[in-house]
This record gives sequence, C-alpha cells and structure tokens, in this order.
Amino acid sequence: MTLNYEAAVLQRSGTPLAIERVSAAALQPTDVLVSVRAAGLCHTDLEVIEGSLRYPMPIVLGHEAAGIVADTGGAVTRVRKGDHVILSWNPHCGHCFYCDRGLPILCEDYLAKGPRAVQFDGQSKARLADGRELKHLMFLGAFGEYCIVADQQAIPVPKEIPFDRACLIGCGVMTGVGAAFNLARVSRADCVMIIGCGAVGLSAVQGARLAGAAGIIACDIDDGKLALAQTMGATSCVNAAKEDAAALAKKQTSGRGADIVIEAAGSAVAFRTSVEAVRPGGEVVWLGKIDVAADVAFRWGALMQEKRIRRSSYGDARPARDFPLLARAYLDGRLMLDELITERIRLAAINEGFAALKSGRAIRSVITFH
Ligand SMILES: NC(=O)c1ccc[n+]([C@@H]2O[C@H](COP(=O)([O-])OP(=O)(O)OC[C@H]3O[C@@H](n4cnc5c(N)ncnc54)[C@H](O)[C@@H]3O)[C@@H](O)[C@H]2O)c1
Ligand SMILES: [Zn+2]
Ligand SMILES: [Zn+2]
Repeated sequence: MTLNYEAAVLQRSGTPLAIERVSAAALQPTDVLVSVRAAGLCHTDLEVIEGSLRYPMPIVLGHEAAGIVADTGGAVTRVRKGDHVILSWNPHCGHCFYCDRGLPILCEDYLAKGPRAVQFDGQSKARLADGRELKHLMFLGAFGEYCIVADQQAIPVPKEIPFDRACLIGCGVMTGVGAAFNLARVSRADCVMIIGCGAVGLSAVQGARLAGAAGIIACDIDDGKLALAQTMGATSCVNAAKEDAAALAKKQTSGRGADIVIEAAGSAVAFRTSVEAVRPGGEVVWLGKIDVAADVAFRWGALMQEKRIRRSSYGDARPARDFPLLARAYLDGRLMLDELITERIRLAAINEGFAALKSGRAIRSVITFH
C-alpha cells in the first residue's frame, strides 16, 4: 500500500514553500522509513529558498531532523522499528579515495549525488500527486511527516531526549560543537573567538566551553544573541556593528590575536574579521557560506604568518559516534539545547519560520509533527 503524507515543497527559488500531499516510494532493502517528529529550520535551507544555493526542483528541504523508525527494508540491521533516531546528512560509501583518507564529507559518491538531490542510492523517494518525482535536500528532505533515508543516516539515540531538541544535533549543533572539538581541537590554554552566534555559532561556543577553553570571545551584530552566548559559556562579547572585533581579540591576548577563530556568520565581513583576529600560527575554521559564485577580498597580510585556514562542513562529524555523545551531553546538563529553540511551529507555518530566521528573530524555529 502506498504511503501518502504531507510535505513542504519548494517549486522554485524565491517562492514560498507549499504544503503538498506526496506519496512515498516503496522501501528498498537498505532504506529506513522515518516518521519525522521534529525538524529545525537551518540557514542552509533558507539559502536554497533564496536561490544562493542551487538545487533541482521541486524539492523537499529540511536536513536537521529527528524521528522514529517506522519501517525498514529487508537488509537493514543497524536500526529497528521504534528506534528514536537523529538523521545525518552525510551518507558515504566508506571505501572511495576520500573515505579511505578519513574524509567522509568528501566521499566521491556523496559529492557526485549531492547536487542531483537524490537519496544515496541515486533514487527519488517521493512523488507529487501529479506524478512528478521530488528531489531531497542533502539526502534527507525532512520537512514532511515521513522521510526515507539510507540505513547509515538514521542514528539511534537515547529515547529520553525530546525530538525537538534532538533534531538540532543533526546539523547546527553537530557542526558548531564539532568545529571546536573535532576540527580546531580546542584545548585549555586556548582563547577562542566565535563570529556569528546563531545555532551553529552558539554550539561552537558550547564546544569551546566543553573543551575547557581559557577564554571564549563571542562576536555577533545582535546584542540578544551575545547575551545568549554568555549564558552558554562566552567569557566576553563583542558587537561587531559597534566595535572592532579583531582589535578586541588582540587586546585580550597581549596583542597576539585569538588562538582559534571559528566563523559561523556566513558573511564576507566575518570571513575578513576571522583572519584579522587570529594570531600568527593560529587556526581559523570557516563554517559559514555565501553565494558560491561571489568573491571575497582579504588584506594579504592578514593571511600570512603561518595561519591555518580551513573551510569545513559538518564539523568533521562521525554521526554514529557523535550524535549519541551529544544527546548524552544534553541529558547530563552539559549541552544547552532548550535555549536554541525560539519557537515550535507546525509544518503549515514553515514560511513564517523562515521569515523569522531571515530577520534574525529566531535562533531555531523547530517544526513539530504529530
Ligand atoms: N559548515 C556547515 O556544515 C554548516 C552547517 C550549517 C550551517 N552552516 C552555515 O553557517 C552559518 C550560520 O548558520 P546558522 O544556522 O547559525 O545561521 P544564523 O543566521 O542563525 O546565524 C548567523 C549569525 O551571524 C550573525 N552575523 C551576521 N553577520 C555578522 C557579522 N558581520 N559579524 C558577526 N556576526 C554576524 C547574525 O546576527 C546571526 O546571529 C550560515 O552561513 C550557514 O549557511 C554551515
Ligand atoms: Zn544545516
Ligand atoms: Zn566514499
């Protein structure tokens, strides 16, 4: 019997999402059918809606989600019906050139299929009522009541963590905490600056706190976000709209600059600030993105002196290892997730949710289902 369900569909960039009745494809042997219970609205979804990130359409967005395994294909062994799962957007083959070098985020299969917006087996897993195939953002497409994923993408987590908080781990939290933990490997002697305090940046602040950083400077252009950063572990704050953030980083480090700068703003100005604020020999991690066709100019001298600069996706995530750890950190009271949720909305209010993210009013709007 065909499963029909509601999903938010984007037909064209620059137009609102429309709630449509769609039908799910039959499950393949390694597929997992997930009943989505919560999905966060991430800035990356907004970039597709606005057109700075280009994907084929019609498409279902949504790549930060948690739910319950509703059914599994015959060959699935990693999860069982009833498991609570957080979804990963980085399926990978495990044996290509990049997988063999410990870089699943560059998996050749993942990179080849990602721009086609199909699921990891190369297929679409849902159709519109008129028969057209739907595309899926980042191998998920979680803005719907159901979502069919490859078994490796459904990561079981403890049932005690509520879905609306669990979903945030799937993108923003993993990316931010992972930037501090997995990429920059923050240590207790480090002064870390985080530029941009949305869900990703606030998670990086928390990653730096969990790693025991000596100083954590939060930078944003919104005082409300900075206040939140302080509750999450920032030891000082700078509003880049009013003050020179790089100068403050130097002032706090005997003129050297921050040991580590994590950029999570997604703006050319922030990219420039990041390399000005880091010390010689220090490390810059860029998480944000702008239109891939845009240019960014740097003062050449700011790039010199052994600085290490890395643009990274997903915080070097190993979802099967990291999602349960992050869920446990929340349950133990070490990782703050409640505070990242500005509002809980129904699927029908998704366009208003994106308006709130765009205006800066929302850290995360989370869609809850059922
Ligand atoms: N690398 C990844 O894997 C990954 C994953 C998720 C999101 N992202 C990207 O990370 C960025 C942040 O995502 P988010 O969901 O937290 O977005 P967000 O819009 O919620 O947060 C961005 C924050 O940056 C602040 N900001 C904007 N310009 C600034 C400036 N010049 N200086 C300081 N702060 C500034 C904003 O006020 C806001 O608080 C986006 O560019 C997004 O595309 C990357
Ligand atoms: Zn995201
Ligand atoms: Zn691979």
